[in-house]
Amino acid sequence: MSIENIANDTILEIKDLTVHYVTEEETVEAVNDLSLSVKRGKSLGLVGETGAGKTTTALSILRLVPDPPGRIIKGTVEINGKDVYQASAAELEQIRGNEVAMIFQDPMTVLNPVFTVGEQIAECVEIHEHCSKADAWNRALEMLEMVGIKADRANDYPHQFSGGMKQRVVIAIALTCNPHLLIADEPTTALDVTIQAQVLELMKDLKEKTGTAMIMITHDLGIVAETCDEVAVMYAGRIIEHGTLEDVFRNTRHPYTEGLFNSLPNIHDRKAQLKPIRGLMPDPSNLPKGCSFAERCEYACERCFEERPVPMKHSETHTVACLRYEEDGFQIERSKK
Ligand SMILES: Nc1ncnc2c1ncn2[C@@H]1O[C@H](COP(=O)(O)OP(=O)(O)OP(=O)(O)O)[C@@H](O)[C@H]1O
Ligand code: SF4
Ligand SMILES: [Mg+2]
Repeated sequence: MSIENIANDTILEIKDLTVHYVTEEETVEAVNDLSLSVKRGKSLGLVGETGAGKTTTALSILRLVPDPPGRIIKGTVEINGKDVYQASAAELEQIRGNEVAMIFQDPMTVLNPVFTVGEQIAECVEIHEHCSKADAWNRALEMLEMVGIKADRANDYPHQFSGGMKQRVVIAIALTCNPHLLIADEPTTALDVTIQAQVLELMKDLKEKTGTAMIMITHDLGIVAETCDEVAVMYAGRIIEHGTLEDVFRNTRHPYTEGLFNSLPNIHDRKAQLKPIRGLMPDPSNLPKGCSFAERCEYACERCFEERPVPMKHSETHTVACLRYEEDGFQIERSKK
């Protein structure tokens, strides 16, 4: 148990995590040398385009990466100072049940179509709080109300709810164990925009009320700005920029993050052109030797194709992995590409 982590209020600490999917045909290097931490009560947005390794990172935290083909090649994950990869089956059950909860994109991966939503929430309460059936049922009704669903819907089945309401039920289930950390993997992607806003508002409220720390995985920088204290940007299995919202949104350093912001439509200037980042993320089963972003980067120089940048601190809170910034903040010139 890491005394240091308990003392500094770190709830999650990932160090040098490397996860591959190994099949007969190829080895997908999904997550590479990834380190990050989350403090109690704080929320971290994990952003990046499809295939960047966000879900694999989330699954690794709870030792849920399917094996085969998934393999944890190296690294450690500590939750509340406990090493997840050294944990016994009983300790792992305690971590998964009581310390960390996960919400996935599709609520039906969690909900069972043949039980009422009330029964499903009550069952979780009973398991976690070791209480009577009657107490669990009453608590389930309270949880439903807390996520904005009238208690008299408790006897309805999942198919009788809209997508947004089903996701609210999943959030209620996730919160029954009063988790220290809630990992939400694209929780609103399947919902339409107005319902999306309501579910995000609800998550923000609950975070403030319960003090749960959160990892919000999303493609959407707007969602991060709304719900998170910090942001980590992932590219080809690595975190390439990490900092507070202020650091990453106002003092953007990494060319990929810059590209993500440039590709957003500007609501204040309707004539502004969308500038998608040219090219594609490299094939994770054949990653380049140097910087993974080099092929798409307008600042790339020869060195970028040879040398892999490592994360470097630019301030107490802001870390960037780009050769453009040396320790003294020196910037290389924009190439002519
Ligand atoms: N079970 C698996 N077997 C083989 N490869 C996998 C498996 N799961 C994920 N991968 C690969 O690992 C890489 C990272 O996938 P991951 O799902 O972690 O990305 P992601 O950032 O969550 O993407 P998205 O935004 O689309 O959800 C991808 O190249 C993906 O194809
Ligand atoms: S290391 Fe080079 S190629 Fe990679 S993001 Fe920085 S400038 Fe671009
Ligand atoms: Mg994913």
